[in-house]
Amino acid sequence: MSARPSFPAGIAPRLARVVTELITRRPALWPLFRVATRLEFDRLAGRWDVGRNPAHLASFQAGLEAIAANPRRALDLGTGTGAGAFALARRFPGAEVVGVDLSPAMVERARQNLPQELASRVRFQEADGAALPFPDGFFDVVGLANMIPFFDELARIVAPGGWVVFGFSIGPNTPIYVPAARLYRELNERGFRELRELEAGPGTAVLARKSSAE
Ligand SMILES: C[S@@+](CC[C@H](N)C(=O)[O-])C[C@H]1O[C@@H](n2cnc3c(N)ncnc32)[C@H](O)[C@@H]1O
Repeated sequence: MSARPSFPAGIAPRLARVVTELITRRPALWPLFRVATRLEFDRLAGRWDVGRNPAHLASFQAGLEAIAANPRRALDLGTGTGAGAFALARRFPGAEVVGVDLSPAMVERARQNLPQELASRVRFQEADGAALPFPDGFFDVVGLANMIPFFDELARIVAPGGWVVFGFSIGPNTPIYVPAARLYRELNERGFRELRELEAGPGTAVLARKSSAE
């Protein structure tokens, strides 16, 4: 029997792919899509965790494992129902973790899912990845699992010497997917080095380290 799908029925893969491509190339167009995106993920929040492949974050977790760091602050951007934030908190037991999402319904679900043992270190808040309410260089590690990146904002909030990890649950078939070559180019232009792609389970991940000189 085949594995259960990694994305809930309802997310439109082709539309997600087109929007991802457009917004990563023309982030100035994001305001035209923000409300519709929020409403769509609000609609999906109640069934986001239903029937998911348990390995949907395998590549994201493998990316986190590959980081030799002891971060103080970590961010899961586009956290959805919080699984990426929990993975960050478990991988880095010394870190305070924030999970951010545009969708209030997703944030509410993430808070409901928060395990007791992580409650003192993990919190969730609504925010837009295009304009985040954090100072420059605030995070030592930023994770994005199946999330559209806003490269300038991402580069702004990662600390010098800090890391970014992109996870794509089913590799190039993930509805929100950015090819590794594109990520390398955008990150390299913004002072990230040590770029690397890996595969785990059904997915892929890309990691990169921001130069300490930036
Ligand atoms: C495909 S889901 C991935 C959720 C989770 N990371 C996972 O892998 O299960 C994308 C998430 O990013 C959120 N999102 C989309 N655009 C965003 C933005 N500009 N800022 C913050 N969150 C955003 C959506 O609301 C949604 O919860």
